[in-house]
Amino acid sequence: MERTQEANRRARDASVLFVCLGNICRSPTAEAVFRERAARAGLAQRIVVDSAGTGDWHVGRPPDRRAIAHAAKRGYDLTPLRARQVAPGDFDRFRWILAMDEANLRDLQALRPRAHHGHLGLFLDFAPSLGVREVPDPYYGGLDGFERVLDLVEEASERLLEHVGRGLRTGDARAPS
Ligand code: 4NP
Repeated sequence: MERTQEANRRARDASVLFVCLGNICRSPTAEAVFRERAARAGLAQRIVVDSAGTGDWHVGRPPDRRAIAHAAKRGYDLTPLRARQVAPGDFDRFRWILAMDEANLRDLQALRPRAHHGHLGLFLDFAPSLGVREVPDPYYGGLDGFERVLDLVEEASERLLEHVGRGLRTGDARAPS
């Protein structure tokens, strides 16, 4: 295989898109946390990470200031991120499309092209030990909701990174069974 083709194939195998409703609280937090964990594992060059929202209300805006502040306390920088809406082309670009909650997942399933062969599922399913499957929406709640998002996202990012990293080493990137 030609070199750029090989590089593209590898990048696609390790491309992760986190999706929530507004793309200003949960999914940008997941994007920043997972990118940081991937970088610490020496995989920054091998994993493409992005986030998007199913809704379009906040397109072009930075993350919610509460999400920025709470993430900063744990060393994650959300300030360069800008909200965007999920687009049909995302199903071609991303091997792993991970929803924060069941409503996000249903919206993504409705958009999913028949030809999509990547993984579409709930992010927290990579961390069954958490005992919950959804990252609760913190937008209308108190500040403890943002800490809860970070706790869930940090744990699930570690588990997802183990899974994706193993796939990169072995060429096997199947979803959890
Ligand atoms: P997110 O949170 O989906 O985690 O970004 C929300 C942000 C905005 C709204 C809802 C949820 N909103 O209704 O504007």
